Amino acid sequence: METTTIELHSGFQVGPVDPRIFGGVLEHMGRAVYSGVYDPDCAHADAEGFRTDVLQALRRLDMTAMRYPGGNFASGYHWMDGIGPREQRPVVRELAWQSIEPNQFGTDEYIGLCRKMNWTPMLTVNLGTGTPEEARNWVEYCNCPAGTKYADWRVANGNADPHGVRLWCLGNEMDGPWQLGHVPADEYAIRAQQAAKMMKDVDRSIELVVCGSCSIDMPTYLEWDRQVLEYVGDLADYVSLHRYVGNRDDDTPDFLAITNSIDRQIEEMDAVCRFIQAKRRNKKRAYLCFDEWNVWYKNMQMDGAGKFAPHLIEEVYNLEDALVVAGFLNSFIRHADVLKIANIAQIVNVIAPILTRGDEMLVQSIFYPFEMFSRRRDGISLQPVVQGPTYEGRTNGQAHYIDTSAILNGRQLSVFATNRNLAEPATVHVRLADCSIAGLDSAEVLTGPDAKAANSFEQPEVVCSRPFTDVRLADGQATAELPPVSAAAIPFRLA
Ligand code: AHR
Repeated sequence: METTTIELHSGFQVGPVDPRIFGGVLEHMGRAVYSGVYDPDCAHADAEGFRTDVLQALRRLDMTAMRYPGGNFASGYHWMDGIGPREQRPVVRELAWQSIEPNQFGTDEYIGLCRKMNWTPMLTVNLGTGTPEEARNWVEYCNCPAGTKYADWRVANGNADPHGVRLWCLGNEMDGPWQLGHVPADEYAIRAQQAAKMMKDVDRSIELVVCGSCSIDMPTYLEWDRQVLEYVGDLADYVSLHRYVGNRDDDTPDFLAITNSIDRQIEEMDAVCRFIQAKRRNKKRAYLCFDEWNVWYKNMQMDGAGKFAPHLIEEVYNLEDALVVAGFLNSFIRHADVLKIANIAQIVNVIAPILTRGDEMLVQSIFYPFEMFSRRRDGISLQPVVQGPTYEGRTNGQAHYIDTSAILNGRQLSVFATNRNLAEPATVHVRLADCSIAGLDSAEVLTGPDAKAANSFEQPEVVCSRPFTDVRLADGQATAELPPVSAAAIPFRLA
């Protein structure tokens, strides 16, 4: 295949990469909390009941903002059920996933886990069946010093110091008719504004995410966002985007070209934010928070049938899915100027990079791109100019075989490159217009026997990252040979 050239200039900067784009979602759904992160009966449980094997694997991903307690679960959740002595917490019928919720893991356990994992807490308030006042009370419980009602409850529950939760989501997917308490945009906007005002009155330092469109296929796509942002005004710091993609027609080239559509979704939402900023003649604008994203289409088991910790949407991921995860991350980095937070949904068992089976644990294919990018995430996104062969995706349009992004950190440059060609290796030439490449640090590549290859408990290392050595340096430039269907992270030292 013809060579692809990635041309960069250290001065052509998109913006600093916000570490919060490497966030996750921990929802009370299926086996994400119970049998996922928290399982006191597991052989690997620590004194607090957390699964040390799962946490050890998650540590490798170095996630940042951890969104909790949902997802759809949040729209029926009353946070007061999940605090206080465990034996006094109610067992409730959970409607989003038709499951039993025993409330043995709640706010204080979640904060404890965030501290253990160095995650930034990110709470989603219930604007479905909950009230704006309940949301305001949760902020007081978490963030206020002792001396008033809800803060004193926290102290009585053994947490003298405030939890310091800065990031709050005003509900979840409120544009979707499946959501508990779903309402039209104008009603949601009123609820969100009321909650936002009270929450910020309790703690001026918090940042708020309003619910944006949960899918580009919603009939209210962009119009919902316009209405909500216009009404909530300056109280909205971010607007949320969600996206789940899949290879439903078994057309891998088209599936891999989904990056075009992800780029477009980000740019369309950014356009709405800029439009509202201009219309309101504001200094402030809302930024983007992609607080649910992933590949999800194979396992659609969403009915818990009244069980505790049922097996729900336990997607098995293959190599092509991992390349699409790399594609999401490339797109996020390319839009670092406007996209400030993103959360892969989810982190364990439920559409996740990690699966558990009893006391066993499996690392899935999508784990690796997240790890490869997250390790090299610090710095400023550069605008790559790509020249090379392209193909036509059936629905997603023209795409370069090589999908890429780049992060500059002082004299360190990390280039991420995915080869979407299923059959042929790709030669990728990297050069900077204003400086020379002087050295190569440890590069990694993710590939496998074919696009459909996946890890299993029986064969856990079919698709995994390995050191990447097919990179040559000459005359201050670099040339890499990428295997077919692969994703590479290549860190360079600049002169
Ligand atoms: O992540 C699974 C579910 O997908 C979330 O609960 C919901 O917000 C979305 O529809």
